[in-house]
Amino acid sequence: MQDKTHLVDEITGHRRMRRNRKADWTRRLVQENRLTVDDLIWPIFLIPGSGIVEPIPAMPGVSRLTVDKAVEAAKEAADLGIPAIATFPNIEMELRDETGSNSLEKNNLINLATAAIKKAVPNIGVITDVALDPFTSHGHDGILRGSEIVNDETVEQVARAAVYQADAGSDIIAPSEMMDGRIGAIRHALDAAGHQGVGIMSYATKFSSAFYGPYREAISTGGLLKGDKKTYYIDPANGTEAVRDAALDVEEGADMLMVKPGLPYLDICWRLKEAFGLPTFAYQVSGEYSMIKAAAANGWIDGERVMLETLLAFKRAGCDGILTYFAPEVAKLLAKR
Ligand code: PBG
Repeated sequence: MQDKTHLVDEITGHRRMRRNRKADWTRRLVQENRLTVDDLIWPIFLIPGSGIVEPIPAMPGVSRLTVDKAVEAAKEAADLGIPAIATFPNIEMELRDETGSNSLEKNNLINLATAAIKKAVPNIGVITDVALDPFTSHGHDGILRGSEIVNDETVEQVARAAVYQADAGSDIIAPSEMMDGRIGAIRHALDAAGHQGVGIMSYATKFSSAFYGPYREAISTGGLLKGDKKTYYIDPANGTEAVRDAALDVEEGADMLMVKPGLPYLDICWRLKEAFGLPTFAYQVSGEYSMIKAAAANGWIDGERVMLETLLAFKRAGCDGILTYFAPEVAKLLAKR
């Protein structure tokens, strides 16, 4: 009878994958992708007032911050080496209306925060979402007329809001409302206002996803939302349509692309990076974050390792960076290594 070692040798020949995995030093040497602090964008939530840090139950470890606390958070982020933060306002219910008119207030919550952060921490990048959902009484990203989210009127308002955000000091405008023609219109409006240096990170492929649940609690739109966002977000079944949608944003002048949610859409990250070669980002959204936190809290997974593994997966899928609520936690962890 043939000896078993000999049999494996005959099959593998000289090919043995495990040689490169045999020790920590070989594994480090052959590692193809690395996560660094430079890959991180930290989304934070804003509330009016001062001195308040209000935990969000559906997102353990994440809080809503008043502007002064957001400035402290931005300082912390900058000290950790995180390149940029992204801000999302939770404004008073009385200020929300059918058209999201507060988005056009020069000194609304998001613009006050931007100005304060840029003043105190000039070296951190500030990325602002310009969708209308934090400002509307119905929780939709655009203007609702009857039962329709009207495209062109929304684009016009979003482009005006983008200029106010840039006036306040925003470095990158990130439109997430998925209206047609928005990138071109925002570029045009920014340039006309003298903001040639302000970039646009398009939420190029934003899917109609259930993973946004905890975010809607965070900015208090969950209870408001009438219906769903299927007439403007992309169907999770469609990959080719997502690439076509992103192609339009590239043509219209997007500087960077984003895929959202992240982990369930790694194929889209890869396809966009391959197709356009633009800086490409994934948004690891609230539901992705909360699932990891919840399972870890129950002792079902090792939360820290799963966090790092998911973030590395984005790098492997071709992403240049990740918007993640884990940003400060990861940055601290990476600094210790
Ligand atoms: C909407 C917007 C959403 C998120 C950021 N901006 C989705 C939505 O509520 O429809 C989700 C972010 C997250 O889930 O972390 N403009």
